[in-house]
Amino acid sequence: MKATVKAHTNIALIKYWGKRDEALFLPTNNSLSVTLDKFYTITTVEFLPALQADEFYFNGELAEEKELMKISAFLDRVRANAKKPMFACVKSQNHVPTAAGFASSASGYAALAAASAKAIGLQLTDRELSQLARQGSGSASRSIFGGYVEWEKGSNADGSDCYAQQILKKDAWDLRILSVEVTTKAKKVLSREGMKRTVQTSPFFAGWLEAVEQDLIAIKEAINERDFTKLGQVVEANALKMHATTLGANPPFMYWQSATVEVMQEVQALREKGIEAYFTIDAGPNVKIVCQPEEEQVIHESLETLPVVQQIHHCRIGPGITYL
Ligand code: DP6
Repeated sequence: MKATVKAHTNIALIKYWGKRDEALFLPTNNSLSVTLDKFYTITTVEFLPALQADEFYFNGELAEEKELMKISAFLDRVRANAKKPMFACVKSQNHVPTAAGFASSASGYAALAAASAKAIGLQLTDRELSQLARQGSGSASRSIFGGYVEWEKGSNADGSDCYAQQILKKDAWDLRILSVEVTTKAKKVLSREGMKRTVQTSPFFAGWLEAVEQDLIAIKEAINERDFTKLGQVVEANALKMHATTLGANPPFMYWQSATVEVMQEVQALREKGIEAYFTIDAGPNVKIVCQPEEEQVIHESLETLPVVQQIHHCRIGPGITYL
C-alpha cells in the first residue's frame, strides 16, 4: 500500500481565473497550459494499518499542523472513494523554487493524487486522476499530463465532465519558458483568495469570461498552425486581461511590482527589435517569458542586464506524472 509519484508544475497560457463551485473546484472557464520539465514534486504515500492519524513530511521535515490538515482533507476523499478508512504517511520533496512564483500546489496535488490513489488500490484513469487532483488545487488537474494541456470546465454540477486532457504532445512543438525572478518585498494575495474576490466583486469579471472564450479559440488555432506570433500575442493579452480584473475588485489588488513592469517593458522592447518574446504572469510578481529555442539565449542576455532581475530559470515543455 505504498506508491511514489513525480509530477511537474505547469504554466497557464490561458488562465484559470474564477470558480463556479468552490467546494468542488469547478472553474468558470477552460484553461490551457504547458507542463514544465524543470520543476517538480516527488511524493510517497504509504497507508499503514498501525497509524492513528495521517503524517506529513515536507522536504524532510514534519510539516505544520495547517499543512497536515489540508493533506488529510484530501486523503479523506481518497479513503471515501476506496472505502478504506486507513491513515497514511506522506513524504513530499519539492523541487520547485517557491520564490520563482511557480504554483507548487499544481505539482504537489498532482503527485499526491496519483500516489495516494495507487497506494490505496484505486485504479483511476489519468482523466479521473485529473479530477481528483483538481480537488486539491485547480491547476493541479493539468499537471497530470505532459505537453500542452486543456482543462475543460464542464457544465455538470457534480464535476463529472470537468477534467484536463492533453491536446498536444510535448515534442510536437518545442517552445521554451524563461521564469524571471524579480526582487520583491510584497505580501501576496493568494490565488485562491484573489480569484474569489474577483468573481464576487469585480465588474470586469464578466468581460474576462467573454474574452477568454475568444482567446481559447485563437490559441488552439495558433497551436494547430504552430504559429508562434499568434500564440505569443494571445498568451500575453490573456494574462493582461486576467490581471485587469483584479484592479476592479473590492478591495482592489494588484500582483505586479515595479520590477514586474520593468520586465514586461523589456519584453516589449525586445519585440520592437524583432525578437519574439511574450510574457505571462500568475498570481505573483514574477514574469514567465514564452519564446522559441533560437531566441532563448539573446532574451536571457538582455534580461540579465536589468538590476531587478534576480534569477532566470530555463524550462522546456515537460512530461506528465510518472510512477517511480
Ligand atoms: C493565476 O490552482 O493555485 O496561476 O484552485 O484555488 O488552488 P486553487 O488555485 P490555483 O490557481 C492558479 C491561478 C493562476 C492561473 C492558472 O494557473 O491557470
